[in-house]
Amino acid sequence: MCGIFGYTGSKTNAAEVVLDGLKKLEYRGYDSWGVSVSGAKGKISVCKNVGKIGNATVKTLSASTIGIGHTRWATHGGVTKKNSHPHLSCDKNISLIHNGIIENYDTLREKLVTQCHTFISETDSEVAVHLVEQLRKKYDLTESVRKAFLKLKGLNALVVMESDSESLVAVSNGSPVVVGFGEHENMVASDADALTSHTKTVYYLKDSELVYVNKDTVTLFDAITGKKKSFKKIVLEHGEKASQKGEFKHFMLKEIYEQPQIITSIANDTTMPDRKLAQIIKESFGTYLVGCGTAAYACLAGSYLFSKVAKTHVNWAVGSEFGYHLDFLKNKSLVLALSQSGETMDILESVKKAKTKKATLACLVNVYGSSLFRESHYNFMVGAGPEKAVASTKAFIGMLSHLLLTSYALKGSYEDGKKTLLKASKSVKDLLGKDGIKSIKKLARKIAQVEHIYVVGRGLSYPASLEVALKIKEMSYIHTEGFAAGELKHGVISLITKGTPCIVFAPHDETYGANISGAMELKARGGYIIGVSNKDHEVFDYHISVKDALEGTIIPNVVFGQLLAYYLAIERDCDPDMPRNLAKSVTVK
Ligand code: F6R
Repeated sequence: MCGIFGYTGSKTNAAEVVLDGLKKLEYRGYDSWGVSVSGAKGKISVCKNVGKIGNATVKTLSASTIGIGHTRWATHGGVTKKNSHPHLSCDKNISLIHNGIIENYDTLREKLVTQCHTFISETDSEVAVHLVEQLRKKYDLTESVRKAFLKLKGLNALVVMESDSESLVAVSNGSPVVVGFGEHENMVASDADALTSHTKTVYYLKDSELVYVNKDTVTLFDAITGKKKSFKKIVLEHGEKASQKGEFKHFMLKEIYEQPQIITSIANDTTMPDRKLAQIIKESFGTYLVGCGTAAYACLAGSYLFSKVAKTHVNWAVGSEFGYHLDFLKNKSLVLALSQSGETMDILESVKKAKTKKATLACLVNVYGSSLFRESHYNFMVGAGPEKAVASTKAFIGMLSHLLLTSYALKGSYEDGKKTLLKASKSVKDLLGKDGIKSIKKLARKIAQVEHIYVVGRGLSYPASLEVALKIKEMSYIHTEGFAAGELKHGVISLITKGTPCIVFAPHDETYGANISGAMELKARGGYIIGVSNKDHEVFDYHISVKDALEGTIIPNVVFGQLLAYYLAIERDCDPDMPRNLAKSVTVK
């Protein structure tokens, strides 16, 4: 989704610094971009473009010590240069970038038109810059931005710059803004990863906070009252390296390869956060797991793990549907929200509603200080490190690892959970070895041109099937469906024709026999059976060897699917890091 970057400092190439910041935000997904600086004679100059930044430069912009930039993911108004940010006031003295959706933009716009403001874009965002301009007739910039912000409905973040000034003003409500503190330079961004090449010292704005930033000082205000506030900076654990591709061709592959280490460090974490989470679940009056997309499948897997390992019932729902399930929530109910970004609007909206029911809110989130992190009563970190590829891989595996350990902690056998996870980590490592990769690449070449793929499994292999199908769809654009294997004969089997690739998960657990029977039924209809199992079987046309790891087998099984999705994307010339139409954090409804 949209990205924000603002710089003020002693460097005179602000435009390049901002463009570099925007490049670090590219992974969020965008369709146009723009940069503005306050340059020669205090005039604001702007450079905007449709499409990706690629090799574009901002050489047309003059030397400056202050600038703002934006990557836009279109919501209101098409993908055009005019609609991209920064937007300018009528007098061209104020430049503004915006994330979020201004829900009441049409009424604000109507009024501003009567006040003689001229709009040049179709966006909701442009309303904000004209509002600031209108208020600036009476107030200083900080106060104008604050008052304008209070008129906006919805979850929004603004960064505003004025000609002839060395200061930025940023304000936010439910849309992330992080301030980065450097040496005689300060920055704001929608994501800490854009700041780590400059500084690891940051402050995450809370809802309805406003900052006034110049090169040597940062002043924080309560946006509602206008009063100054004190704040505590934090130092990020990960530096710039964690956000780089290193020797890998794509972030997705790098992130897949990081997984054995992530699983191992979750298993060996001496602070044992999953014990605390188990305790909170024990004390609650019913637990609801909530997530979207891949995180929703982690929730579904969690419901199987809690049932199988801890004999504990938990409910689960996808974020966008959770709001319709809320009626029974009580003040001792627990909502455990899972999210990589912690910014997914469908999650944030539903957990806010759950809070009004006085439910306790806990989160398992991968981004420290994110909106979900701030909103929750209890925060648990996934600990997968920055995830840059649009499709979630390591955050999903991190979530699963925590849920598995938590289910063992609930059962009172944490050490067994640890052993299971270490087994899973070893199985993933083996899969990532030379032979595993060779066999997955060969499979990808074989099936790269098919129209449909089906993925089936039972028990914990059912959420694995859904997740693997999602990864293949996102990465390769091949129509792929995941099913509970038992559902085949209730309708799905009519889709199988000669040669249709069917991925069958067959771990050696209580589902094995039934899965093999299902594979036979698929084969009898012409299906091409890709068996994912620790042992080959005559029904398999293609065997992928995955070592069993008890309840942890879902982990290497999903990693196989991530790798297949990645290599299918390569075979089909798709960009695995930035699949079409998708954004990394989905901050709109
Ligand atoms: C799929 C994927 C998405 C996200 C979903 C939720 O690969 O990445 O389905 O899982 O948009 O995002 P988070 O976890 O950030 O809430």
